[in-house]
Amino acid sequence: KHIAVAMGGYSSEFEISINSGGVVCKALDKNKYEVYPVHIIKEGWYFVAENGTKHPVNKADFSFNNGSEIIRPDTVFNTIHGTPGEDGYLQAYWELLGIPHTSSDYYQAALSFNKRDCLSVLKNFGVRAANSYYVNEGTEINVEEIIMKTGLPCFVKPNRSGSSFGISKVNEMDAMMPAIKKAFTEDSEIIVETALVGVEVSVGVYNNGEEIIALPVTEIVSENEFFDYEAKYLGKSQEITPARISEEETEMVKKEAVRIYKLLNMKGITRSEFIIEKGKPYFLEINTNPGLSAESIIPKQAREAGMTLTEFFDILIQNVLK
Ligand code: DAL
Ligand code: MG
Repeated sequence: KHIAVAMGGYSSEFEISINSGGVVCKALDKNKYEVYPVHIIKEGWYFVAENGTKHPVNKADFSFNNGSEIIRPDTVFNTIHGTPGEDGYLQAYWELLGIPHTSSDYYQAALSFNKRDCLSVLKNFGVRAANSYYVNEGTEINVEEIIMKTGLPCFVKPNRSGSSFGISKVNEMDAMMPAIKKAFTEDSEIIVETALVGVEVSVGVYNNGEEIIALPVTEIVSENEFFDYEAKYLGKSQEITPARISEEETEMVKKEAVRIYKLLNMKGITRSEFIIEKGKPYFLEINTNPGLSAESIIPKQAREAGMTLTEFFDILIQNVLK
């Protein structure tokens, strides 16, 4: 079978995605699969051969020349974070072409990548989450009104982004406008959320072919004020798996993560973030293409669950090939 590992994307998360894609290419079982790294970047779409030669992808059918023949992948392993690979665009394209992919379907991806919309759907199903306030470039920004809703401290986030790009923690009113300006550099929509106080945990959930299950829970201890980019990728945090929370809390947060996966009708691997405040999980967000780089959480959780990455990625591919 021919597997294209799609990586890159058009967002600030481009580099992380290239790292995630590299981990997947390395781990996939070469006795079983022909593996093709495909870079989907602003400059163009290319299959990048081992010697570095770039072969352009034909966007009409997602085929490319591997140097000797035309390859049309049987499946796409999607490791793109951010647009256009985590927000539904590429999912819709592959779905139209009839090429199976390992991530959630286009609508589910689009909905969950939009923090405001995802929260508003989930709150309807009784999922606990922080108070939030939404603004975009066209709405009037009234700092006092925002703070009335969220209180201080709060987080200012791009509504559609990842890896903490553009996020600030705001402790005082004067810091609000600069934080909003910073978030607007990543997205034209912004969400402001009450800062919850508790233990931050991250829960991978996937379909093992028979049922939807949660991976071991990871606790995040950031040296910085929150789990920002530096904490995520430059070592300024400790990620402890399994999390040092009670068995009851572990079961509760796993159950909530699986419930959310099912409510949103997800596919493949997702990773949800929660803050456990006073014994209750508060949902922060869900990632439909969670990081798979050496620094990322999902590979650690899969190993903690007793799987090699080769075995784990194989399950994700087999789920879509069958
Ligand atoms: N958005 C990053 C890659 C993650 O969720 O791991
Ligand atoms: Mg995220």
